[in-house]
Amino acid sequence: MINFHVLTLFPDFFEAFKAHSIIKKGIDKELFRLNIKDIREHAVNRYGQVDDTPFGGGAGMLMRPEPIYDAYKSLDLSDEARRKVIFFSPKGRVMDQAYVQSLKSYDDIVLICGHYEGIDQRIIDLIVDEQVSIGDFVLTGGELPAMALIDATVRHIDGVLKSGSLNEESFTGRRLEYRQWTKPRTFMGMDVPEVLLSGNHKEIAKFNEADALSETMKYRPDLLDDKRCNENEEVTI
Ligand SMILES: C[S@@+](CC[C@H](N)C(=O)[O-])C[C@H]1O[C@@H](n2cnc3c(N)ncnc32)[C@H](O)[C@@H]1O
Repeated sequence: MINFHVLTLFPDFFEAFKAHSIIKKGIDKELFRLNIKDIREHAVNRYGQVDDTPFGGGAGMLMRPEPIYDAYKSLDLSDEARRKVIFFSPKGRVMDQAYVQSLKSYDDIVLICGHYEGIDQRIIDLIVDEQVSIGDFVLTGGELPAMALIDATVRHIDGVLKSGSLNEESFTGRRLEYRQWTKPRTFMGMDVPEVLLSGNHKEIAKFNEADALSETMKYRPDLLDDKRCNENEEVTI
């Protein structure tokens, strides 16, 4: 079972995250665990200090190494091969579906959330296995990236989603999902495609497959690019 350990200065951010939807259900069913660790418990003094000015000057404050290191050392972790320590950073590799899927083989995933101008480089050199970004923009802290990573990863754990849900989801087989409609059959003069009302499962599957491909070509043709292809993966166009 994966244990996610989040090192953060803002543990409250995760209260609502833990309390709803598939995250709550997965925790309740013991499909994964979420351990939120407050870095400030390891502050360098009784005033709760966790940051300081960067050597050499520059704008803003930097998170000091000792509180992060002590918070990390306080975790009960499996041996090195079964754990991964991630620091969220705009410098990191950009997270995608293949990456989050690969994380499900670990027992412990430690997620370090930076804040202010970031963290002291020695933490990255000492304990971080990988820096991960969620896109080419700058956020205020690593908490939203941590939630995104956990949410996207647990969807790949058996039992979290209804069986089959992942098969047709976007990015499975390098495709986006086909378009979908629900009731009513007509809305503002717009009808649902006739084939979806036919009850003919073979025709519906054919329609959906073609639609997924056309959506992919329209919005993300790069997904069909051969260079992105995994050697063993086949794409039917
Ligand atoms: C204000 S940012 C620091 C940005 C840093 N000074 C820079 O220019 O690269 C504070 C923290 O938010 C997190 N963060 C910001 N943008 C991110 C992104 N695109 N992906 C992942 N984490 C991010 C990181 O943990 C970072 O240390």
